[in-house]
Amino acid sequence: MIKAIRGTRDLLPPDTALWNFVEKTVREVFSAYNFHEIRTPLFESTELFARGVGEETDIVAKEMYTWEDRGRAESDKGQSLTLRPENTAGVVRAYIEHNLQARGLNKLYYIGPQFRRERPQKGRYRQFYQIGAEVIGPATSGSESPVRDAELLEMLATLLDRLGIKDYCLELNSIGCAADRARYNEALRLALEPVKDKMCGDCQRRAVTNPLRVFDCKVPEDQPTIETLPRIGQFLDEPCRQHFAQVQEILRAVGVEFQLNDRLVRGLDYYTRTAFEFTHGALGAQNAILGGGRYDGLSESLGGPAAPGIGFAIGEDRLVMSLGKSPEEVLRKPDAYIAPLGAGMNNEAARLARELRQHDIVVELGDASFRLKKSFEVATKTGANYILIVGENEVKANTFSLKNLATGEQKSIPRDQLPGAIQS
Ligand code: HAM
Repeated sequence: MIKAIRGTRDLLPPDTALWNFVEKTVREVFSAYNFHEIRTPLFESTELFARGVGEETDIVAKEMYTWEDRGRAESDKGQSLTLRPENTAGVVRAYIEHNLQARGLNKLYYIGPQFRRERPQKGRYRQFYQIGAEVIGPATSGSESPVRDAELLEMLATLLDRLGIKDYCLELNSIGCAADRARYNEALRLALEPVKDKMCGDCQRRAVTNPLRVFDCKVPEDQPTIETLPRIGQFLDEPCRQHFAQVQEILRAVGVEFQLNDRLVRGLDYYTRTAFEFTHGALGAQNAILGGGRYDGLSESLGGPAAPGIGFAIGEDRLVMSLGKSPEEVLRKPDAYIAPLGAGMNNEAARLARELRQHDIVVELGDASFRLKKSFEVATKTGANYILIVGENEVKANTFSLKNLATGEQKSIPRDQLPGAIQS
């Protein structure tokens, strides 16, 4: 038997109803904040992620699905391509490529699969789904303002509330601007120098190449050492300190609760200033439902114009897990099951089904080869509210017998009154 690849999975009905419920709610909430959808390709040049996300990050160093895409011709040198491990770099590439700065402030969102070669476990897949948003534009459009950070965080709190997710926690930090980071990295390098030899191989390397990434370490033995390291908060310059204070002030004003976490540095290199995660207890070790932050220098590092931005990505797989809902709570069951009875009745039943569906009635269509008993069994199994019998007499009279499957009540209803009777 050929099975799905480890770390990938099929999403089947009825579970997909939960995914649809989430995506529908997301589209409603995001559009109330004037966000619009962007769709970027599933694969991009490897260079985009190497430069955007950062060579030293776990994502780029270990987790990308990368291949050499070569043509047949001798002259075709080929290109290194990568399945997108995240969507921010792709959005910023599109921003540069399509000169979206001319539009002022761009408020974009996306829903789609991402790919990382991580060790599969609960809440962690190799093909997973993200729902993300990015706010990006020239500084003159207000893209740098703490108003944008707070609006994004408030939108996320609203979304989680609307989905009925309880007990989530917003963890917030500021990781400063490039200059703060440079000073902080130097301080980290110094602090790591005498202790790094006791740490894991990855940390020994990070201590030299990109000390901030030491905070991504998950090796339990290294954690006490990491706890003793200086924190970024002590290295913020005045503008960054003020920016962070204003984000917090607006969040308090709109009543969004948060916790400061000075260890939160996020695992991607493009971040500046505000960094955040929403965590949820029900998820176990992989407890981040979503993460994000500012990336004020990303566009420039990809060769584009200055374009401050902030965004997030929700792990949709994890969001669905934390819903605490069953698919039945959000599933739309058939309103009516049409049971054709007798020769020639399939045509009549199909005609009637077409009419009813035009009234936005969910119809499951039976088959005249089924006996009436079987039609009732199938109708009950689909969870339909009504069964509608289409036999020769009914068609002649243009009046159909409609039976409520829950109460057993049966009525004869003229054809033109059926939509009303089924919807009432
Ligand atoms: P990230 O923290 O790498 O950020 O991923 C965001 C979320 O995606 C995580 O919090 C988690 O819920 C989910 N996720 C990540 N890896 C997996 C996996 N292997 N299986 C299941 N879920 C996963 C980013 O991707 C940034 N692009 C977010 C962002 C947007 N920052 C600014 N704009």
